[in-house]
Amino acid sequence: MDLGIKGKVALVTGGSRGLGKQAALSLAREGVDVAICGRTQETLDKTVAELKANGVNSIGVIADVANQSDIKALHEAVVGGLGPIDILVNNAGGSQAREDITAVSLDAYKATFDLNLYGGFELMQLAIPHMREQGWGRIINIASIYGREWGGNISYMSAKAALIAATKHAAQTLGKDGVLVNSIAPGSISHEGGSWERFQRDQPREVVEDFIKNNLPMGKFGDPEPLGDLVAFLASERASLISGSCIVIDGGQSHSMI
Ligand SMILES: NC(=O)c1ccc[n+]([C@@H]2O[C@H](COP(=O)([O-])OP(=O)(O)OC[C@H]3O[C@@H](n4cnc5c(N)ncnc54)[C@H](OP(=O)(O)O)[C@@H]3O)[C@@H](O)[C@H]2O)c1
Repeated sequence: MDLGIKGKVALVTGGSRGLGKQAALSLAREGVDVAICGRTQETLDKTVAELKANGVNSIGVIADVANQSDIKALHEAVVGGLGPIDILVNNAGGSQAREDITAVSLDAYKATFDLNLYGGFELMQLAIPHMREQGWGRIINIASIYGREWGGNISYMSAKAALIAATKHAAQTLGKDGVLVNSIAPGSISHEGGSWERFQRDQPREVVEDFIKNNLPMGKFGDPEPLGDLVAFLASERASLISGSCIVIDGGQSHSMI
């Protein structure tokens, strides 16, 4: 299937490792020039080399998406290095505070929104004018099954639910401009250096086996490759009727029927 996105420019936040790296690789294999950002130069450089090996242009930008002062500079660096952004993948995110409502500090709760929502929100605002002007754009926000149904901690669950809501609202606004906005809700996906890999390494075997038995119907953690390919598909011409959706990719892990 030709996805029809060769020559487009993408930014994948948190694209140097994990799910973001897989998304960046899937896009590069389709001929997309991909910028990635992260906080560590070494991993950025390594992944940029892997992306370029697909014959595309790529740059790595040091930026912390939780830090508001980094966002405009990140956008400018991508536009200056590769051109205006056609495909935005807001991927960087994660848990900041594991305490429940009785113990979490307001600062920690807000910090989780800084990481999972506000940086990506501002990047959408910065990228949208070019997308609208050319009548084509794709925004893909990486949420979580815990943004759709109960699970995880209160800070992460709240921030991912807000990201899904912002996605839906933006999709309604931008539909007539050819800008499609979707979110993806992954389940537990294990990758090198990721939290589920650490969980499997650090927890007693019985704890890991119990988690898998009670939570993962396929009897194993997910791999990042299907997520990367889903991002490339949503970014493509082939996904032209999909907007405002939150697509679950979890091997049947979540309980919601919608
Ligand atoms: N893996 C899962 O099971 C799972 C499940 C549901 C949802 N998700 C969501 O999927 C996304 C990616 O998950 P993942 O497991 O790949 O996460 P991860 O392993 O924590 O992500 C690592 C990538 O994000 C970058 N990164 C981390 N914090 C950053 C920040 N503040 N600013 C910029 N870059 C940052 C890392 O580079 P540096 O460390 O060098 O900055 C690296 O490139 C997240 O939004 C997560 O919430 C993941």
